[in-house]
Amino acid sequence: MARMTLAEKIGQLNLMPAGEGLLTGTRQPTSLAARLENGQVGAIFGTKSVATARAMQERALAGSRLGIPLFFAEDVIHGHRTVFPLNIGLACSWDMDLIAATSAFAAAEAAAEGLHQVYAPMIDISRDPRWGRVAEGPGEDPSLAGRIAAAAVRGFQGKDPGSKGRVAACLKHFVAYGAPESGRDYDNVSLAWEDLLTTYLPPFAAGVAAGAASVMVAFNAVNKLPMHANGPLIEGWLRAKTGFDGLVVSDYTGVAELTPHGMGPAPVAVARALHAGVDMDMVGEDYLRELPGLAKAGVTAPDAGFALSAAQVTALIDRACRRVLRFKQQLGLLEDPFRGMARSARPPARAKGRALARKAAARAAVLLKNDGLLPLSPKARVTLIGPFAADRANMLGTWAVSGRAEDVTPLHEAVAALTGRAPTVAWGANIVDEPWLVQRLNVHGVTVRQDPRPEAEILAEALAAAATADVIIATVGEAKEHAGESSSRLSPDLPAPQQRLIAALAQTGKPLVVVVFAGRPLALGAVAEQADALLYAWHGGVAGPEGVADLLFGAASPSGRLAVTLPAHPGEVPLTYAAEPTGRPYPGHFAKFRTGWLDMPDDAPGFPFGFGLNYGQVSYGPPRLSRAKARADQAVNLQIMVTNTSARAVTETVQLYASDPVARITRPGRWLIDFQQVTLGPGECRTLRFRVTPDQFSYPLAPSLEDAEWVRDPGLIQLHIGANSRDTQTMDLTWLD
Ligand code: BGC
Repeated sequence: MARMTLAEKIGQLNLMPAGEGLLTGTRQPTSLAARLENGQVGAIFGTKSVATARAMQERALAGSRLGIPLFFAEDVIHGHRTVFPLNIGLACSWDMDLIAATSAFAAAEAAAEGLHQVYAPMIDISRDPRWGRVAEGPGEDPSLAGRIAAAAVRGFQGKDPGSKGRVAACLKHFVAYGAPESGRDYDNVSLAWEDLLTTYLPPFAAGVAAGAASVMVAFNAVNKLPMHANGPLIEGWLRAKTGFDGLVVSDYTGVAELTPHGMGPAPVAVARALHAGVDMDMVGEDYLRELPGLAKAGVTAPDAGFALSAAQVTALIDRACRRVLRFKQQLGLLEDPFRGMARSARPPARAKGRALARKAAARAAVLLKNDGLLPLSPKARVTLIGPFAADRANMLGTWAVSGRAEDVTPLHEAVAALTGRAPTVAWGANIVDEPWLVQRLNVHGVTVRQDPRPEAEILAEALAAAATADVIIATVGEAKEHAGESSSRLSPDLPAPQQRLIAALAQTGKPLVVVVFAGRPLALGAVAEQADALLYAWHGGVAGPEGVADLLFGAASPSGRLAVTLPAHPGEVPLTYAAEPTGRPYPGHFAKFRTGWLDMPDDAPGFPFGFGLNYGQVSYGPPRLSRAKARADQAVNLQIMVTNTSARAVTETVQLYASDPVARITRPGRWLIDFQQVTLGPGECRTLRFRVTPDQFSYPLAPSLEDAEWVRDPGLIQLHIGANSRDTQTMDLTWLD
């Protein structure tokens, strides 16, 4: 660094798109070639081949007086070329080894393309199904999300992000991006500091503890301060409190967006972002434009209450540049700028990835209802009805930038391959009615096509096809771009034409299996009653439909558990099992002057967090605690016997929740503290042990972020153990001090 000029240091902070990837902002970046020749680029994201990466690296080295290499990044959100289920689906597996394995495979594919960093894992907690990016995330619970963050980091980075076949992880989006007002993407969030500390920050703490090498900041403002200018959270919490010492990158034009946020014109915005701890500026190039001037003259912005001297700006440029270079060193690029970019680099065997993707898809799907219909006999005559029965492109799900629709085996083919006979297929209904919505859904390429015939005609054809079947399998849900970035929905439910289709199919009286392919938790309304069996399959990636076929015909057993609550009605969102109690708690049905909804029927079928059915049955014995009273230096052991009472193997996720009936402030009604997944053979029983420790019950009192104090009280707490967040057995435990 001592040998670098100011301009060279500023160049290192510039993060540019390759121009081959997805452009998600409105600005057109400058010509990359010109920038590379002048040593004005620190890193590039979105290259699509090792050849391009190599060519760019050669150019960068030639254009850099000191021969400083670039690093290459990409959005590898749920797989790379081999697309795995959406992250919300993977979260429903509650299987950390599986999540680590999918991340490791994605890392190997990415590394073989000359990539060094992935913009993953996305670990935004979200409790609002209107927000489309629920699809990319770990669901609603901080402790499940924390484990997922750690597992994904382990998978991407291995022991060393600079080792062969591994990449640097980038935790995103820091922070509370998943709680925007009204569920509108990019919108701001105001919440109690306690919520931030107990719900939205813990997954980041877990990712940092697992060694994540980088973090991306979020577009939104949190408690009145946009994250790209949020020094208290970035330098104050992330670095000072968790000890994170990696690289912080902006989101796409996030620095420039500080201006419309009301943070001041470009020079002020840049100074604020750099000061807050945003080391690299993605796409906007505002660092490149503004920092030379700022380093000469400093900045004084009394209207924004912000000032930095020239010397301070220069020191901040040094700080950011050092972090960029350290990151490159950690990736081994300072020793070998072409690390991982050998022309002979080979990705891992695609067949291995497919097998993993198929297993993951079966594990991601959640069986919500089964009136004895599933699994189907391979001999059953089935008719597949609905707009997803032969679909490929939508199955990839959102943010599958390196995936290819032709890699997907559609459901009708998967069923034919598994059962040895081709099922009858009928379209049944259009995904949506509105032509303008179809246009919006097809923004990244056509995945939604409309059957122009009148709805009655389409339906009549489907009913005729159903007439010959023993069982109807209805495939409904959302298109790929229904969920994801900038895809917030007013009403997270099944689009109307598909609701009408299910109602008509139910009327036939034939056994009806409904498979939902979606990117968000949908309020299913009457569909949950109309179906005899209901499988929530998310968008399952390249082998999504094969995973579903495996479940439907019993080649795999369902074990998914909801990582996010399915609302009974779209109007009740945001929603979480962990809601704090009111003084007038909901009694389980509507009661005047109690918390609840006047116009929601009492029997509206929602599905709680943690819920999911097996094909077999598991019974829970009485739980036992090693002691009912404990001191603060003691751990308590909880023991429970679970028995598979059926003749099929089951994978059960035993979930442990806690509640604190008396505290200094309101606390969640219950919250997940631990879980264990076990596979039990027919008739097998197993005793599971959980360790309960006092630190699981500390909570923050936080008049401000800086003044947050973690406390723990003596007294009664309750432990709830069971198969989901609702169906549990409760034990009392008293902390003596
Ligand atoms: C998204 C990020 C993504 C980035 C780069 C942004 O629009 O919010 O999640 O990593 O684009 O593609």
